[in-house]
Amino acid sequence: MKLGFIGVGKIACAVVKGLCTSSMHNLTVKLSPRNEENSKELEKKFPNVDRLETNQLVLDQSAIIFLAVRPNASKDILRTLKFSVDHVVISLIPFLQLSDLAKAVEPANRISRAVPLPTVVTHNCPIPVLNSNETVTEILGYIGQPLLVDDENQLHALWTLTGFIAPFYRLLGELSDWATSNGVRKTIANQYVADMFQSLSLSAQKIRPIDFNELVRHATGPNGMNEQAGREVSKKGAHEAYTTAADNLLKRFLQDL
Ligand SMILES: NC(=O)c1ccc[n+]([C@@H]2O[C@H](COP(=O)([O-])OP(=O)(O)OC[C@H]3O[C@@H](n4cnc5c(N)ncnc54)[C@H](OP(=O)(O)O)[C@@H]3O)[C@@H](O)[C@H]2O)c1
Repeated sequence: MKLGFIGVGKIACAVVKGLCTSSMHNLTVKLSPRNEENSKELEKKFPNVDRLETNQLVLDQSAIIFLAVRPNASKDILRTLKFSVDHVVISLIPFLQLSDLAKAVEPANRISRAVPLPTVVTHNCPIPVLNSNETVTEILGYIGQPLLVDDENQLHALWTLTGFIAPFYRLLGELSDWATSNGVRKTIANQYVADMFQSLSLSAQKIRPIDFNELVRHATGPNGMNEQAGREVSKKGAHEAYTTAADNLLKRFLQDL
């Protein structure tokens, strides 16, 4: 498959590394010249990856085009490019809605929007996809677990959740720091926190259907530690802070670029 990338930043690098280390056969990757350092590094690392001189050359030599530039620059960049009707487009750009995207990549008409995360380098990442097709689902399946959504509202809601990666790590960091300040060695505290949350997520993942309220009930005994911590955290409004932040992030998907 002939894949091309417009924009070679953090997420494109992760996707390319994930694909090139996957079991995918007959893969060729053409990269836009920017970011120069990233595209040169990928070209050096993988024999089937080439950095081209212009964005248009990437389109001309590829069948499937990943769009991985920042939202604010996206419309200007796309305006300079000539797509063909045969191109399959996979946009990773958050605030560029399908209707605007469709106009920007005309006459291409097989257009998907997807949300990979940098964890695709390990081939373990849920990837919400809107408007997928067989080709797109197959490609994304090499680097993660495609999750096909029915409409753009669902995609935006799931995309909103990706704004909680930093708060999640912050929570882990705070709990680890707290343990360290109570005498636990830093390496042990970090390991324990990372492993504890990983094992909790893993067991939640295995339940069908997943029911977080049930998991809370199961972990909350009368006068138990989880009951006390849960009550104190709720009283401080911490949980509400998360849903309010999510509401505010979601609004960004509805504004014009
Ligand atoms: N990071 C994530 O986890 C993630 C996940 C899903 C979706 N996304 C979305 O994917 C897009 C890229 O994210 P990112 O984190 O990879 O950002 P990034 O690291 O800033 O990458 C953006 C890339 O676009 C390049 N660029 C700028 N102008 C260009 C042009 N005219 N032609 C070609 N490339 C150009 C930049 O090159 P220079 O460095 O030379 O300016 C940079 O390499 C964003 O829309 C982001 O919201 C990101």
